[in-house]
Amino acid sequence: MLLVADRLARRYGEGDAAVTALRETSFSIAEGEFVAVMGPSGSGKSTLMNIIGLLDRPTSGTLMLAGQSVTKLPHDRLSAVRNRRLGFVFQSYNLLARHTTLENIELPLVYSGIARKRRRVLAEAALASVGLTHRAHHWPGELSGGEQQRVAIARALVSNPDLILADEPTGALDSVTSAAVLGLFQELHRVGHTIVLVTHDPQVAAHARRVLRMRDGRLIGDEPVATTPVAAEPEVVPP
Ligand SMILES: Nc1ncnc2c1ncn2[C@@H]1O[C@H](COP(=O)(O)OP(=O)(O)OP(=O)(O)O)[C@@H](O)[C@H]1O
Ligand SMILES: [Mg+2]
Repeated sequence: MLLVADRLARRYGEGDAAVTALRETSFSIAEGEFVAVMGPSGSGKSTLMNIIGLLDRPTSGTLMLAGQSVTKLPHDRLSAVRNRRLGFVFQSYNLLARHTTLENIELPLVYSGIARKRRRVLAEAALASVGLTHRAHHWPGELSGGEQQRVAIARALVSNPDLILADEPTGALDSVTSAAVLGLFQELHRVGHTIVLVTHDPQVAAHARRVLRMRDGRLIGDEPVATTPVAAEPEVVPP
């Protein structure tokens, strides 16, 4: 298993003001899965993603990533694991305005200490994989929302992460642009990437292969996505 969450819980605050955002949540994700996390606002989706993404620690419970317990790792080790194993895509793209497309994509590699020339080669390949080679030297402000999100996806991919985490990646996009971005996630899944995507939109979740449902900080469902059977092509008879 790539990821094993065992009774993860997260409480914020103390005493009367305490909020339990996540309650005793357990599940596993295998390599190559495409999982959607669904649930109403406030149900704990982002809390869960932040813990899986090693941006936050659970109050209790354990998390294993690629066979390694990450729950108690010291801060610097955690950052190293995050940088090596995880790629993030957010609703708000989070591109740096004063850096070009390619420079934004290179950033995770800068933190990994990869040499400049190699960074450029990897960033160009990631940019090509999202179909935006012609925007390499543009500023984020010159790109459409959908293009900015594709750049953010290229940035998430550039370090060849074990797991891509996306929190409402199409939340700010119109339906046509969303469909293109979701098509890109499906293509990444097809070539073997493991993806966990948070959404409150059933149409978005339908692009995944498995849905984890949350309510009031609990996991209340874990089902495969019913795939619409593709009509069989009429057999072509050779002349
Ligand atoms: N830093 C915090 N301090 C206190 N409470 C918090 C904090 N972050 C989240 N919460 C609370 O935890 C609960 C779960 O929040 P979370 O952000 O995980 O929800 P969500 O499912 O991602 O919602 P949305 O769909 O609106 O993004 C909410 O009740 C929220 O108010
Ligand atoms: Mg959220």
